Amino acid sequence: VVDIRKLYAQTGMFTFDPGFMSTASCSSSITYIDGDKGELLYRGYPIEQLAVKCDFLEVCHLIMKGDLPDEKEKADFDHLVTHHTMVNEQLQTFLKGFRRDAHPMAVLTGLVGALSAFYHDSLDITKKEHRDISSIRLIAKMPTLIAMAYKYSVGQPFIYPQNNLSYTANFLRMMFGNPCEEYVVNEVVERALDRIFILHAEHEQNASTSTVRLCGSSGTNPFAAIAAGVACLWGPAHGGANEAALQMLEELLAQGGVDKLPEFVAKVKDKSSGVKLMGFGHRVYKNYDPRAKLMQETCREVLEALGLQDDPLFKLAMALEKVALEDEYFVSRKLYPNVDFYSGIVQRAIGIPTSLFTAIFALARTVGWVAQWNEMISDPDYKIGRPRQLYTGETARDVADLNAR
Ligand code: ACO
Repeated sequence: VVDIRKLYAQTGMFTFDPGFMSTASCSSSITYIDGDKGELLYRGYPIEQLAVKCDFLEVCHLIMKGDLPDEKEKADFDHLVTHHTMVNEQLQTFLKGFRRDAHPMAVLTGLVGALSAFYHDSLDITKKEHRDISSIRLIAKMPTLIAMAYKYSVGQPFIYPQNNLSYTANFLRMMFGNPCEEYVVNEVVERALDRIFILHAEHEQNASTSTVRLCGSSGTNPFAAIAAGVACLWGPAHGGANEAALQMLEELLAQGGVDKLPEFVAKVKDKSSGVKLMGFGHRVYKNYDPRAKLMQETCREVLEALGLQDDPLFKLAMALEKVALEDEYFVSRKLYPNVDFYSGIVQRAIGIPTSLFTAIFALARTVGWVAQWNEMISDPDYKIGRPRQLYTGETARDVADLNAR
């Protein structure tokens, strides 16, 4: 067996592959994607089965520990996560330093990074027990942090976690509850949000996960590494796409909706316009994104349950998808709806503000980031990530004196 790393080191050979179009940066046993078949497996289980048979914490157990929990393991894991949902009270002071109108992703990047200052009893990444507790803390506290950021932005009191609720119901209550009355969880909404979490939980070496691995490869603590992942996710080509997709649909609706579709699609096809069909296209899925199909079903269920089946935005999204799937531009480039095309409509129906969509994605992806980081750190041969470059600058030259330049 040829050790490619040694071979490259000996021969001085290296590959030039901007955007990692065909270069693997690591090996991993967590997620398998077949982009041509539209297949996504977490630890071997198809996403279509996980989305209907499991709840989010079962999927977290699977992703982190390698298999689905049995009943006892599920009860233990749920207990462990729900009992780490509180955050250090001092974090409120840190949060209150932000402007109320700050973007939630700006706030979240700061809050997640700040966890390393509040939980410095678990920063020794060479110790498995530290890695384990930090991982659980991240998964458990993410909903609390996001709900706190939301409550702060609208000037409402923080709602503390309530541990007898499910992970997702607890988040809904912290977001939409108030201290004066009991919060009643809508089960359809809870299930839909739980499914959004499952569908976004892990997706192998995407940009934010690769960022977490690269950042973590220096040996930094997991809170710092996950904060880097949150920052990367914010971009509109990645997690920011759900927010951008909904904004695009809302603008299109305001300009005339379905009647304006031909004009809009023509604009997207005109490269000089710089307009992209947000929520369409994927680096790996070149047939369809299996998560988009599940999301579209969930979207229909939620809108029906909430009496919003005639939602003009959903109708516009369906019409836009139909036009695009019949258009040569999109067909020839294998551009299909991705998970973000419909997730924004579901979140909007639930009452989540658009600016918070990417933070919800971050909440769900935290388990994937944490599992990938653990997988890397547990590998005795892992190395600091250090990409090569193809230098295109000046050859060596002398510095002239200031008055002679
Ligand atoms: N709208 C219009 N044209 C597009 C789109 C789009 N959404 N996506 C790709 N294209 C075109 C490109 O312009 C390019 O055309 P060309 O061959 O004539 O130059 C061709 O399709 C191939 O696209 P690339 O950008 O090379 O594909 P890449 O794999 O690098 O990008 C990406 C994938 C970033 C997701 C891209 O499709 C995109 O920007 N989509 C919109 C943003 C989005 O929805 N992101 C969410 C991704 S999924 C996630 O993060 C959960």
